[in-house]
Amino acid sequence: MTALTLSTAAAPGLRADAIVIGVAKGSGPKATGPVVAPGAEAVDKAYDGKLAGVLETLGASGAEGEVTKLPAPAGFKAPLVVAVGLGAAPEKDAEYDGEALRKAAGVAARALAGSKKAAFALPLNDAGDIGAVAEGVLLGAYSFDAYKDNGKNASARKNGKAPLAEAALLGGKPRDKEHKAAVERATAVVEELNRARDLVNTPPNDLTPESFAAIATAAGKEHGIKVQVLDEKALTKGGYGGILGVGSGSAAGPRLVKLSYTHAKADKHLALVGKGITYDSGGISLKPAGHNETMKCDMSGAAAVFAAVVAAARLGLEVNITGWLALAENMPSGSAVRPGDVLRMYSGKTVEVLNTDAEGRLVLADALWAASQEKPDAIVDVATLTGAMVLALGNRTFAVMGNDDAFRTAVLEAAEEVGEASWPMPLPEHLRKGMDSPTADIANMGERMGGGLVAGLFLREFVGEGITWAHLDIAGPAFNEGGPFGYTPKGGTGSAVRTLVRLAELTAAGDLG
Ligand code: BES
Ligand code: MN
Ligand code: ZN
Repeated sequence: MTALTLSTAAAPGLRADAIVIGVAKGSGPKATGPVVAPGAEAVDKAYDGKLAGVLETLGASGAEGEVTKLPAPAGFKAPLVVAVGLGAAPEKDAEYDGEALRKAAGVAARALAGSKKAAFALPLNDAGDIGAVAEGVLLGAYSFDAYKDNGKNASARKNGKAPLAEAALLGGKPRDKEHKAAVERATAVVEELNRARDLVNTPPNDLTPESFAAIATAAGKEHGIKVQVLDEKALTKGGYGGILGVGSGSAAGPRLVKLSYTHAKADKHLALVGKGITYDSGGISLKPAGHNETMKCDMSGAAAVFAAVVAAARLGLEVNITGWLALAENMPSGSAVRPGDVLRMYSGKTVEVLNTDAEGRLVLADALWAASQEKPDAIVDVATLTGAMVLALGNRTFAVMGNDDAFRTAVLEAAEEVGEASWPMPLPEHLRKGMDSPTADIANMGERMGGGLVAGLFLREFVGEGITWAHLDIAGPAFNEGGPFGYTPKGGTGSAVRTLVRLAELTAAGDLG
């Protein structure tokens, strides 16, 4: 990952490949062209205070995502200035918001791939801004090269240039405790988030339930997290019919991984549950071509939970967190579960499988029930659960459902705080009867309309009585099939990791649950 430093040095004397500055869209009745954001004063001064005009001449508007490169003024050690768009300038006396800074830093980091060192001269008012820019740089500089050129020859990377090696954040004070803590937090969270992206991007012939469990076990050892892996034998003994049923078609058997992070001073317990389908072919209800090419991403929920638990451990948060990874590969075969089969779930309920492609709710049901047995203060599950939610909210926003409106709101607010787009969704009672089964307690499918809410209602049946629960459907934002934008790369995005870490922090602080 990119090395981050805090620097009080003045921009002109800095030895770097580039100086990054912010440019915003002027607002208000008088403002017309782009405005130079605070932090770039030294650069502006060297341009005789005419930098805004220079940028306008070069076609810059200050729009989000925009990159304008110009030669550094005489007397600067760095040869290049990179002006990155911040979007609309804040109202008079207001500050740039963290997400605008995070995105701009990510865009700049991507534009500077191949460079050794860049100095970021963006508007940094407090430790929060430093954390946001640090996150943006580390998130934007991500690249996944493990399968390019065998990952061995870095100079011949076929994914393009090597990520930016070093970023100095100007205006950050290396001796300020809060500034240092902001960089450390950003580093821990994004390192784990980027690991979640790696897991999502790893092809399903290499990332199986077994190999995922082994990776979790190794990480647990490294970070003092207790890891228990239930293999097929243990799952059978325990009666985990949902996970076993979904995994039964694959040569790569299912696993349930339990990660326990505990803190001696903790008085709250948060449980996180992730859908970990390492590949979703649909099973016997096979997905048509065009719908399965990206289904390695169907373990994004489990990757997010894994990353969040490890990040919480690295941050030493005063909260107990149990992460549950429900891992299986959904494949068609002679041993696969059939439409019409009835599974006996870990909770004891029976489920008629009407569509083997509605597999996520089956593995989650067992993991939710297992999580419930410990009576945590709250459970949050994360899943690439339904195409319906992608249709409803698009590719950049995840849905939040749950059995407690206040908790659902708390999750939405946590997401907003860290710059993740999310939206509340209801669990309408009338949709429950669509899942009535003549044979079993419930079917794994209901009405087509509102399919994402039907899935949420199914999950609710497997949450223990009286336990606060929220469900995040990240099917849209988990995997970016388009080009990179802001700090989001193509492929696995690490959706929900930052929201989960924030929830853990809020729980630790006693501000939640
Ligand atoms: N993994 C898919 C959902 C999905 C779709 C994730 C698109 C990411 C992008 C899930 O297992 C699935 O197949 N859901 C079905 C449910 C249906 C059969 C009730 C769906 O949404 O079509
Ligand atoms: Mn499916
Ligand atoms: Zn799926």
